[in-house]
Amino acid sequence: MKKARRSKKSKPASTRAKKAPSRARASVKENARRKTTATIYARLSSHVTLQAQADGSLAAGFDGYTITMGRFSAAAVKRAKDLGPGLPLNAFSRDGNAVEKEMDILTRRLARSGLLEYRLTQPRSAKSSDAKDLVAIEPQIPGYWPQTPKLANGDRVVLSRFAYLRRRNDEMILESPRAGALFRIGDVKVASALATLTKPQTIAKLRRQDGFPGIELLALLLDSQILFKVKSGSDGLRADEGDDDLVLWDFHDLLFHTRSTEGRQANPLGGLYRYADAMPPPPAVRASWPGRKIDLGEPATATSEAETAFAKLLRARHSTRDFDNQRPITLAELARFLDSTARVLTKWQSPLDFGDGENGPLIDYTTRPYPSGGSSYELELYLTVANCEGLVRGFYHYDADQHALTPIEARPQDLETMLTAAEFAMDASGAPQILFTIAARFGRISWKYSALAYSLILKDVGVLIQTFYLAAADMDLGGCAIGTNNIDLFARMTGLEFHVEGPVGQFAIGRAMPGTMGGQ
Ligand SMILES: Cc1cc2nc3c(=O)[nH]c(=O)nc-3n(C[C@H](O)[C@H](O)[C@H](O)COP(=O)(O)O)c2cc1C
Repeated sequence: MKKARRSKKSKPASTRAKKAPSRARASVKENARRKTTATIYARLSSHVTLQAQADGSLAAGFDGYTITMGRFSAAAVKRAKDLGPGLPLNAFSRDGNAVEKEMDILTRRLARSGLLEYRLTQPRSAKSSDAKDLVAIEPQIPGYWPQTPKLANGDRVVLSRFAYLRRRNDEMILESPRAGALFRIGDVKVASALATLTKPQTIAKLRRQDGFPGIELLALLLDSQILFKVKSGSDGLRADEGDDDLVLWDFHDLLFHTRSTEGRQANPLGGLYRYADAMPPPPAVRASWPGRKIDLGEPATATSEAETAFAKLLRARHSTRDFDNQRPITLAELARFLDSTARVLTKWQSPLDFGDGENGPLIDYTTRPYPSGGSSYELELYLTVANCEGLVRGFYHYDADQHALTPIEARPQDLETMLTAAEFAMDASGAPQILFTIAARFGRISWKYSALAYSLILKDVGVLIQTFYLAAADMDLGGCAIGTNNIDLFARMTGLEFHVEGPVGQFAIGRAMPGTMGGQ
């Protein structure tokens, strides 16, 4: 078999050209045309159904939820049925006829709710709903819409160093923490064609390749930053991709950041107990090691009178999720809280020491009330203020050097989304009075540390959170750490790119509801 294929392939194209030059040229052209006419279809994600309601509106149903999509004409409702198997993107358009316009509105709404996926097929298989997809595209960010930027024959493209292929169940997935969508590869030839893109290739050369995946796929991958364009002569390595901030990221760190937060992935996230059926809950306390034990007894300071103030504070610390909105935290309390936990205490400089007698540039350092890996102090505090006496509801940055708050203009619905997410994460009865979003200036750490940059950041977050807990207990305020945050929402609110500065932790604070304690 192998030999037969090889001998067929090895027959030089020039042999055919000699025999029938014009036919051969035509067939190359035809081949190229056929290869470049794959079509993108939009279709409902597999867990979504569209139902026509009695009042003429359409509702999308998924996982026991229903979202109303609005009212549509009978013709549009009929057309919408085709969203099951899929409709070509050109079946809806803002500038098209009435039904096309309505379909455009409907599909954009579905896309914003993350209920659509897309398939790329060769035309001959497109009609059949069970035809094999060349590629299926699963959006990872709300509102993802496939774009196909123009690619000329002379353009050189290469795979991003953040792109990776992996197995998911029985499928092959191509994804990247930079991409707004992941690509399910349905044809093994596509995977092998992509493998050639570890080195920059011109589009012209790719077109000639056996198994050329089509210009549409390359354009989609370019749009998703899985491929990027490189100039002639460039090898497309780390420094060629993106800005300085991106250059500082290691692959695993950017992947960890985007896959352990909300906003840039569509995977299920949080306390879902996914393995509850597969295994019993692991114990709260580790089983004892066998052998003799050395009893540590009770400390001499066990009585409450002898206990130090710090030991008492540690025992008093607890999480508070419900706040007394009749007696909100005051601006003076907030100022004291920030002063004792997060403000810059001193500033100093030190030359970078390479350890070989050579000195690098002078580096700025600060000291603050909590410790930080490498004295980096990469963490920044952003405050979403819902109810604080003396401070207007809004979004602020804490300037730790000036000990001042800078208001940041944010859309009221984004403020609301952030507060509601915190309320939901705490299973609380209302929004926190103030929500701290702890953001990291990633480059401050990754400029120095390789391989462990992101893990250091998360450790620093833990240290700061405990500092917050203790200060809150000391001031008779309530506080609670929050384990999730939305990196896309924060990027929208600050205008900062997600790889430059972004949230890595949250902490809610306010005056505790009288008589409330703890929880889980
Ligand atoms: C990193 C971290 C993340 C947490 N995330 C949440 C959260 O998302 N929601 C919540 O209600 N509590 C959260 N908590 C609070 C814990 O549930 C709480 O600390 C734990 O139940 C022990 O209770 P205690 O703090 O009252 O002693 C978090 C705590 C930590 C340290």
